[in-house]
Amino acid sequence: MTQPLWQKTGIQIDASIMRFLAGDDVILDREFFLHDIAASKAHVEGLANIALVSADEAAALKRELDALGEDFRSGTFVLDERYEDGHSAIEARLTERLGDAGRRVHTGRSRNDQVLVATRLWLKEKLKALDSHCRAIARVCLERAAQPAVPLPGYTHLQRAVVSSTAMWFAGFAEGFIDNAFRARSTRELIDANPLGTAAGYGVNLKLDREHTTAALGFARMQVSPIYAQLSRGKYEMAVLEAIGAAMLDVRRMAWDLSLFTTAEFDFVKLPAEYTTGSSIMPNKRNPDVVELLRASYASVAAARTEVEQLLSLPSGYQRDLQFSKGALFRGVRHGLMALELVPDLLARLRWNEPAMRAAIEPAMYATDVAIEQAAAGVPFRDAYRAAAEAAASTGAGRTPEQSLDQRVSPGSGGDLRLDELRARLGRLDV
Ligand code: ARG
Repeated sequence: MTQPLWQKTGIQIDASIMRFLAGDDVILDREFFLHDIAASKAHVEGLANIALVSADEAAALKRELDALGEDFRSGTFVLDERYEDGHSAIEARLTERLGDAGRRVHTGRSRNDQVLVATRLWLKEKLKALDSHCRAIARVCLERAAQPAVPLPGYTHLQRAVVSSTAMWFAGFAEGFIDNAFRARSTRELIDANPLGTAAGYGVNLKLDREHTTAALGFARMQVSPIYAQLSRGKYEMAVLEAIGAAMLDVRRMAWDLSLFTTAEFDFVKLPAEYTTGSSIMPNKRNPDVVELLRASYASVAAARTEVEQLLSLPSGYQRDLQFSKGALFRGVRHGLMALELVPDLLARLRWNEPAMRAAIEPAMYATDVAIEQAAAGVPFRDAYRAAAEAAASTGAGRTPEQSLDQRVSPGSGGDLRLDELRARLGRLDV
């Protein structure tokens, strides 16, 4: 490893302790190395604005930062154990190429605000992806909700309850994913604050041009308090994992439905063949593995959130414990986004098995309709309810699922889906 930036003369560095301190940290830093470089460019501009580096030095530093980014992208520069972390690698490279100008780059900043700003830029990007995945899922759900509705048993307690439909099922998830997209937006707004320029967590004796770095990096505002900048590490990561978790919670329940609906006992749904796999021993099997892993992906996101939360039992100020939040964060975000990306195509192509769904609708499922009809005609609801309960299975004889759905005119239900309202709300996110 190159000499740590903080190495003092006379103090020996022990290799195994160093390994423990650094761990796979430098490898993790690859994830936001380009964001670290972008933030370093803004920092250099800020230093030039207060004459701490000359215009020439700033130009050279920015040129070398761009070159480093290019080399990293192309694989010419590999970020590995030669460096303590990504932040040190940037300074080492600038110093190697530019000498004194490189040695000036860390003026007024700390790795503490450097890691914050790189993470923050990365998180903003991931929330953009979350937002667009959620909107894509909502769009497919809305399209499929607008197709001719096929009756589907509606369950509560996993017992047959009332007649539902494919349109109602899709409309439900459409609204859920519109909410999830809003959640991605509001979380992005929450975290859209620039921590660069807070240094180690207590500011510095320089009039840093924080307004410039805030604008240059595309942040909506400056994160004002250096102490809060440090307090927000982990807290913002949790907010992002929660936003992804909210979407994954809906995915988990949707996946549960689908895995149930593909059983021979239900047989309501046929998944596209690519989303199923075979068994290594049982020649007859087609398993809904993708749907099961979609369901399981919630666990990774929730576990990552919990891991970050567990680390935050800390006093204020930077604590090295925070370094461990990166692995959990990257893992959780990757799992969540990878899962969400698959959902639109899966939903667009799943096929309903209408005969099986119709066969699962029994006359007793009209009992609620019957009772409410009587109540609407003036019979006290509790009396109508009893009468319908006593007539039991014969209550709904002669009724059809279509009638039940058409007459379900309470706004949002089968007879009045209000897809336009959902479309309008989704449309507000398209800007
Ligand atoms: N790898 C460190 C982290 O993720 C970077 C900040 C190091 N700061 C320090 N004071 N040692 O937290």
